[in-house]
Amino acid sequence: MARDIIIAPSILSADFARLGEEVRAIDAAGCDWVHVDVMDGHFVPNITIGPNVVAALRPHTSKVFDVHLMIAPADPYIEAFAKAGSDIITVHAEAGPHLDRSLQLIRSLGKRAGVSLNPSTPESAIAYVLDRIDLVLVMTVNPGFGGQSFIAAMAEKIACVKAMIGNRNIDLEIDGGATPETAKIAAAAGANVLVAGSAVFANGKYAENIAAIRRAAAASYKG
Ligand code: DX5
Ligand code: ZN
Repeated sequence: MARDIIIAPSILSADFARLGEEVRAIDAAGCDWVHVDVMDGHFVPNITIGPNVVAALRPHTSKVFDVHLMIAPADPYIEAFAKAGSDIITVHAEAGPHLDRSLQLIRSLGKRAGVSLNPSTPESAIAYVLDRIDLVLVMTVNPGFGGQSFIAAMAEKIACVKAMIGNRNIDLEIDGGATPETAKIAAAAGANVLVAGSAVFANGKYAENIAAIRRAAAASYKG
């Protein structure tokens, strides 16, 4: 089932001293979603932002808040991120032993549920929760930092996840090392949501950068 191409700039690469302004700027520049990277210094070797920052940013745009939880455990914080204004809450399959329960919790709060797979995690990890999710996030870098290179081996995993999804109403997202070149590869494998941090924020030309990634993905997308 063909889906819209969705561009979600990752504010991890934005100017943290002016986050509200930056969110308004990518909104005006034509982004579809705002990707929010939450890191706890435990699941990943970096620390970023909590629910309070999500709540502070919420009034700055009506665009979808795509919240990527790189935290373990995740369950104790899911309600706070829901209340803060997240629209999509994505947990990692590796974050704890009870993925099914976490996904049920997210949906019970009226939010869209996503599951993310680290590069080394096989797609079979989601085989029995496909009916509990609205989004699969295939990490195309090892999570924790922006500015890393796209792992080419992930193209095959994206295609496998696409096949598993079949006709279900599930978005297929990639995250890490997205550029117009790698967006082509990911979209050709079946991804319709492209997270991009450094490729959007690097040179300040937000609208141009977002349009370039969208064009590249749309040209090769296999829905
Ligand atoms: C990494 C994050 C990504 C990151 C992407 O752990 O989940 O969202 O910010 O940044 P780029 O596009 O620069 O790789
Ligand atoms: Zn992310």
